[in-house]
Amino acid sequence: MKQVKVGIIGGGLMGKEAASAFARWFVLNDSPAQPVLTAVADLSEDVLKWYKRVSTIELLTTDYHALLASDVEVVYVAVPHNLHQQIYLDVLAAGKDLLAEKPFGIDADAANAIYTAAEASGQFVRCSSEFPFLPGVQRVIQEIKSGKLGTLLEIKSGFHHSSDLDPTKAINWKRQVKFCGQIGVMGDLGMHAAHVPFRLGWYPDTVYAQLQKIYTERPDGKGGMAACDTWDNAVLHTAVTIDGRSVPMTLETKRMAPTETNTWFLEVLGTEGGVRFSTKEPKTLYVYKREKEQYWQKTDLGFATPYPTITGGIFEVGFPDCFMQMLAGYFEERHLVKNGLPSSGRFTCATPAEAVASHKLFAAALQSTESGTVVGLEW
Ligand SMILES: NC(=O)c1ccc[n+]([C@@H]2O[C@H](COP(=O)([O-])OP(=O)(O)OC[C@H]3O[C@@H](n4cnc5c(N)ncnc54)[C@H](O)[C@@H]3O)[C@@H](O)[C@H]2O)c1
Repeated sequence: MKQVKVGIIGGGLMGKEAASAFARWFVLNDSPAQPVLTAVADLSEDVLKWYKRVSTIELLTTDYHALLASDVEVVYVAVPHNLHQQIYLDVLAAGKDLLAEKPFGIDADAANAIYTAAEASGQFVRCSSEFPFLPGVQRVIQEIKSGKLGTLLEIKSGFHHSSDLDPTKAINWKRQVKFCGQIGVMGDLGMHAAHVPFRLGWYPDTVYAQLQKIYTERPDGKGGMAACDTWDNAVLHTAVTIDGRSVPMTLETKRMAPTETNTWFLEVLGTEGGVRFSTKEPKTLYVYKREKEQYWQKTDLGFATPYPTITGGIFEVGFPDCFMQMLAGYFEERHLVKNGLPSSGRFTCATPAEAVASHKLFAAALQSTESGTVVGLEW
């Protein structure tokens, strides 16, 4: 395994998740590269203190430019959305490869600017979206590609949270337009819902969006209240052309979905069969069969991840596993691309083009809500 020095800019929730995955890289059986976390930049000294437990760290800094001046080859950036454009462009200008967090810029203009710079740089850039790396999602993709579903009838893809239903939950940057963006919940969760449909070539021809803002203020954590001005829930009713037919595809992202703590799901139904997976039942694949009677067949999947690990095949997967699988995908693909080697055929991270496409869809969704009409999209 070739060692690759990695830096993290933004050491919060996701920075720590990445650090933990790098620290147990030996779990992977055949990764061609081993990321070694040597530098972390975060504005908070408290956050930086947490990283003192990582033995490979050489640099902890509050100035991300110092990290970019170090000898890291790859940078994972996990900062609020208003900072994506500047920091991603700085990473590219410093000659480093980038694993960007979604939504890849605060809006479509930012995403396009990052895309243009990434293409011009020739550096390896991908965008985070980990759920498709779960065995259940891989099986859903296989079933769809097999053609066994017949003529497709409908597609439902989504990601639901519920903690915002608590009105006493304090405000944070994800609930404020100036940090999270006009697209609100779509910026937080939308790439997760769009990644697999886009990878299957399902780009909507039209979108009619229903966006909801429920609570307009939240406790500010200092005894007062603060404006909570982002969209909470977004249901995008889209139409996508598959095999010459228009198929309804619903993309749902919600922060207020009762009972759903962190539920990613995808359901695709056809005339001959169907598939359904949800992280609510992380090891279970549902396959719809149409025989004399119709029924859902339920299969326990085990640990059949796209990037093989030491973990026993009968065990269950979870969030840290799919996040690590995504990182394995990033480092394998980077290794293959950099060495001019053919693709392994395994599932790979969202591309800058897919991230830009998600922004185009979210911008059209905003337009649809403003106008109350169906908005057309061209790709
Ligand atoms: N892939 C996923 O499942 C997933 C989940 C949550 C969040 N995210 C994405 O990850 C990114 C970060 O989200 P989070 O939940 O980790 O946020 P967070 O608030 O937990 O962490 C962000 C960190 O960035 C730091 N920061 C802010 N400005 C900085 C600067 N100029 N230089 C260095 N550090 C700075 C903050 O101090 C904070 O520690 C966002 O783009 C978000 O959409 C992805």
